[in-house]
Amino acid sequence: MEAFTKAQKRIEELKREIEKHNYHYYVLDDPLISDSQFDLLMRELMELENQFPELLTPDSPSQRVGGEPLKGFKTFQHRTPLLSLGNAFGKEELLDFHRRVVNSLGEDVEFIVEHKVDGLSIGLYYENGILQVGATRGDGETGEDVTHNIKTIGNVPLRIKEPLPLVAVRGEAYMPKDSFEKLNQEKEEKGEPLFANPRNAAAGSIRQLNPKIAASRDLRVIVYDVMDLEGKEIHTHSEDLEFLREQGFSVIESLKSKDINEIATYCEQWGHKRHDLPYEIDGMVIKVNNKEQQRQLGYTSKSPRWAIAYKFPAEQGITRLLDIVVKVGRTGAVTPNAILEPVKLAGTTVSRATLHNEDFIKEKDILIGDYVVIQKAGEIIPEVVEVVKEKRTGEERVFSLPEYCPECSSKVVRLEGEAVARCTGKTICPAQVREGIIHFASRNAMDIEGLGPSIVTLLFEKELIKNFADLYYLKFEDIVNLERMGEKSAQNLLASIEKSKEASLHQLIFALGIPLVGQKAAKILAENFGSIDKLSKATEDELIAIHEIGSKIAQSIISFFNEEQNRAILERLKQAGVKMESEIPEIKEGALVGKTFVITGTLEKYSRKEAQELIESLGGKVSSSVSKKTDYVVAGASPGSKYDKAQQLGVSILDEESFIKLMGE
Ligand code: IVH
Repeated sequence: MEAFTKAQKRIEELKREIEKHNYHYYVLDDPLISDSQFDLLMRELMELENQFPELLTPDSPSQRVGGEPLKGFKTFQHRTPLLSLGNAFGKEELLDFHRRVVNSLGEDVEFIVEHKVDGLSIGLYYENGILQVGATRGDGETGEDVTHNIKTIGNVPLRIKEPLPLVAVRGEAYMPKDSFEKLNQEKEEKGEPLFANPRNAAAGSIRQLNPKIAASRDLRVIVYDVMDLEGKEIHTHSEDLEFLREQGFSVIESLKSKDINEIATYCEQWGHKRHDLPYEIDGMVIKVNNKEQQRQLGYTSKSPRWAIAYKFPAEQGITRLLDIVVKVGRTGAVTPNAILEPVKLAGTTVSRATLHNEDFIKEKDILIGDYVVIQKAGEIIPEVVEVVKEKRTGEERVFSLPEYCPECSSKVVRLEGEAVARCTGKTICPAQVREGIIHFASRNAMDIEGLGPSIVTLLFEKELIKNFADLYYLKFEDIVNLERMGEKSAQNLLASIEKSKEASLHQLIFALGIPLVGQKAAKILAENFGSIDKLSKATEDELIAIHEIGSKIAQSIISFFNEEQNRAILERLKQAGVKMESEIPEIKEGALVGKTFVITGTLEKYSRKEAQELIESLGGKVSSSVSKKTDYVVAGASPGSKYDKAQQLGVSILDEESFIKLMGE
């Protein structure tokens, strides 16, 4: 019973702690702890919930990782229909809306202006403060119950501050633009079909039966409306937004104004600045602030009369496709790119657009010389939407992918089931090698500051480096005279390269560019093997025994380490002093025989259970309370009263680092 009560108390503590960190990370964008510290808290919670399944509640953050797939979607009847909005195209139509509202009310009107987020509209239903249902808008009355996926979204509170009988909230689920780009890049590398835009990516991730998919994607929800509220009265929309903020949501930014000219200017300005936002917006929403006035204005059959969507003009342009060139990526993917007659679009001059792959060109029937409609999808890479066939002259030419790589003349092949064709040149292909070095130095890999694509290209073209191991053998005199370099930059660059030798093992594994091994897999491999040496000797069975590693990834790892050239590069990295293992030292058997430990607070590298197992495996004992007989108290972050007791009794207190050292001695 005591264990149960203790677990109950700890679970409650952990739930609050984890949700606090989620809020700081996702809503405030200001994390308080590292990812690995967060993982430890989550792991401890999941272990306790496993031990005491009766203590698992629907608001537990452990539910965010995504459980078993559903067999099918349940429909969900919204309590109040999720209406859509009427549109205003341009300032004139906005002024018409204003005139209608003011004439109808016959009094002063205050408005709230918000971004119109281009995502997937959803309703969130909280009962007594706990999230019960998350559902898509559907036709407005009936949506799909996607609670299992919504719960995986980090900035959706599973429990809100005030436990009111009912709070129904409306918002938009979206994928941040940079995450969308990254996801599509990964898909492109894997030869999978791409998402057309962030909106489709968000919808495609949420309307999935398997919640692991949503959990693995960077999704967010931003809220902008309280649809139903029981147990509290709110009189204005701006107070709704304030209330939502207090409850822990990410809330839409807003402007309050009575001046329609100011509102129009604000909308137009956002039309130009929209590209700076992390999410896509396709317009602005203007709402009457006072709810009594909203009630008086009422609704048409489809939309409220008290609000309108100001739509931005479409960001498309027409230009001529002058040529199609192919680019060879790090994994050999040969992707066609359109060279365009430069055209101004969304504030920038566009002269290139992605064409993704051969099928895309065939489907859209794109010919060299065509006039094409282009659009900035996902804001960053412009895309060809369609061909203006009426403008064809008959001079246009069909494009076909080259049979041989333009960079190394190796055969280009397209494997069955893959959307992309690949150069088979691997290590003899300069493009693949160069892109591989760029990847090696990039932020999430070895994070070599100052070594961006242009410097890598320069070093590579001057034959100062042939692979990424060569970076560690560069000398000051090699680089100081390069274009735009100089003494200071050369010193800085060498210092950054030197510093990267201490990068974490998972960064190095990711940096190696093993096909199919992304950042997440690299972390898992680092945790499981602890060194490049052990990873390079891993068998397929050992690899696939790890939960997240499938046989395709396992084979890719094995063939990477089998290649003579890769082994030689790794040896040179090692010789240069690049760290090839995790920080945790090898543990000596029997190092702790006869010693009694007490653990308090949260450790960064181990869960309580893991630390206990470690101590025991080395011959030590773990006790739950501090006494004079205790040899060491291991204190992690936020230690409890045991820490004070240890101080009173004069027991040695170890922080995590000293604890690890002790095990290694
Ligand atoms: S208000 C009755 N505010 O735009 C209130 N909608 O047709 C109706 N949307 O699908 C919604 N951002 O999902 C509102 N700040 C915002 C919005 C917003 C995006 C979506 C909404 C709906 C569409 C309008």
